[in-house]
Amino acid sequence: MKPVRKAIIPAAGLGTRFLPATKALAKEMLPIVDTPTIEYIVREAIASGIEDIVVVDGKSKRSIEDHFDSNPELEDNLKQKNKLELLKVVEETTDINMYFIRQSHPKGLGDAVLTAKDFIGDEPFVVLLGDDLMQDDVPLTKQLIDRYNQTGESTLAVMEVPHSQVSEYGVIDPATRVTDDGLYRVKSFVEKPRPEDAPSDLAIIGRYLLTPEIFEELEKTKPGKGGEVQLTDAIDSLNDRQHVYAHEFKGERYDIGSKIGFLETNIEFGLKHPQTKDQLRAYIKELAAKL
Ligand code: UTP
Repeated sequence: MKPVRKAIIPAAGLGTRFLPATKALAKEMLPIVDTPTIEYIVREAIASGIEDIVVVDGKSKRSIEDHFDSNPELEDNLKQKNKLELLKVVEETTDINMYFIRQSHPKGLGDAVLTAKDFIGDEPFVVLLGDDLMQDDVPLTKQLIDRYNQTGESTLAVMEVPHSQVSEYGVIDPATRVTDDGLYRVKSFVEKPRPEDAPSDLAIIGRYLLTPEIFEELEKTKPGKGGEVQLTDAIDSLNDRQHVYAHEFKGERYDIGSKIGFLETNIEFGLKHPQTKDQLRAYIKELAAKL
């Protein structure tokens, strides 16, 4: 069995929920406190043992490439001013094997993943979406890799969401619970069902471990919901020829793809950050007293 070494981070969406901020700026560069959201995602991949990361980007995404490049002028300046902590932070992100591919038209998440076919080749790989930040003792991507090392099959991360929200997600129709710690065999995968049609409240969250056969399915997948090539549809077809498992995530998920989720995450991370936590807590108390 080939090891899981490569990751795809699709980042070619238009980010319409954050307009006007995303007119000229990549959504993935919006910060949670002081760190661009994509850096949290890249760090999860690295902490999970991933060696090579390809970012599928589109227009206005040059800043992502620059963020993971060296910046000699800035580094010299920080050295001269003896700001070594900051220098470390800036340099850390330049040693990662990052690659960039363009998706010329945003034809959907499935199409974005297909763009990276040649980069992945004949190996299992992971897909990490930037809209979800995950926290757990073992990184979620590592949890999926551990499952793959047991089963040798594709595995998606799922999480129970409120029933009224299922139409925002891909949802699974679970067949059997394979283990007590939340591994499911799946009957089918449904993209954004209406609550009354949803087969469960187990929603696909933004981490996927896929076998390379997914590319053959993606090549055959016609545009689905919203006129976009849906990764969920290709996964549903893959499930007809190989098993695709679902792994229930029990850690903390921060949905930073919506305005409210983004604000909440900034507050929660700000309450943990050594430079902001005390002042922010005092400010929130003061504000709450006025509301
Ligand atoms: P979303 O559906 O959340 O779209 O894409 P979006 O453009 O990021 O954000 P909104 O909804 O317009 O605000 C889910 C993921 O798939 C990627 C996005 O970058 C995001 O990571 N994606 C989507 C692509 O890479 N290409 C596409 O054509 C569509």
